[in-house]
Amino acid sequence: MFDIAAIISKLPKAELHIHIEGSLEPELMFALAKRNNVRLAHDSVEALRRAYAFSNLQDFLDLYYQGMSVLLTEQDFYDLAMAYFRKAAEQNVRYVEFFFDPQGHTSRGVSFDTVIGGLARAQAVAEDTLGLKSRMIMCFLRHLDEADAERTLDQALPHKDKIVGVGLDSSEKGHPPSKFKNVFRRAREAGFKLVAHAGEEGPPEYVWEALDVLGVDRIDHGNRALEDAELVKRLARDRMALTVCPLSNLRLCVVREMTAHPLRRMLDAGLFVTVNSDDPAYFGGYMNENYAGIGAALDLSEAQLAAIARNGFAASFMPEAEKRAALIAFDEHLS
Ligand code: ADE
Ligand code: ZN
Repeated sequence: MFDIAAIISKLPKAELHIHIEGSLEPELMFALAKRNNVRLAHDSVEALRRAYAFSNLQDFLDLYYQGMSVLLTEQDFYDLAMAYFRKAAEQNVRYVEFFFDPQGHTSRGVSFDTVIGGLARAQAVAEDTLGLKSRMIMCFLRHLDEADAERTLDQALPHKDKIVGVGLDSSEKGHPPSKFKNVFRRAREAGFKLVAHAGEEGPPEYVWEALDVLGVDRIDHGNRALEDAELVKRLARDRMALTVCPLSNLRLCVVREMTAHPLRRMLDAGLFVTVNSDDPAYFGGYMNENYAGIGAALDLSEAQLAAIARNGFAASFMPEAEKRAALIAFDEHLS
């Protein structure tokens, strides 16, 4: 027997799939509601936590959008991100690429600059005080139309130096990647990396579209790719990284139970798998809990856990020299 919790907590980790708004813990949500005079639908932290029982992605998204209504000022976004960075650093996460959903805020009258200002200030402080480096990925909400995404991209362009990539999230079914073909083309031309949630609830065709129509650099989730043998071959051949989120998959009923999670089959098929937390405040755990949950359920070896952690750095959007140094540091840590 090996002490899986000790091994995981010591592993240097990179997180590539975390929605910063999904790190809003109920306690901070209530504190910000009070500070901003926002009325919440639940009257206590306990009642809110009890409501975190989801049958599917949409159930969760309804509460996720409600929750973010407390985020109004630059300081709120700073506080949100700092709380996540502290938690990540405690868990030996050494590098983060985090998503934010500008349309979830601009639609409520909060300016793009307010959002990005608070997040960027937290990034700088986290790097100085915690030694935790991070980059931002701006997501388009796929339940909205492409014109809305185009306007959001326009707002992001003056902040290009602060945003490494663009992504696609929110309600997957009925909103295929191809709906965002033009805005992704424009984002690529502007120099952004591209990612998209695909194959979380949606069919393998959505993963094909993310690859062939959008031209993504990573797939977020990708679970349902395993239903299509040709697609699995393609993902393996291209060494396309998947940002897998075990506790999220369990809580959103993407998998029946953790032992049924496809991650081992992904590894067996030679896929480039990373482990991430998605929306840790809603799904019962940050990085270590995700590694522990999947490691125990699938009986992963210490070497497999380390290989997955290494993949997090290898699949990142760090510039090449920075990535090389991060991988050398990772290997030295293990030796
Ligand atoms: N937004 C926040 N978390 C998400 C998820 N798991 N899937 C799609 N959109 C999201
Ligand atoms: Zn996600």
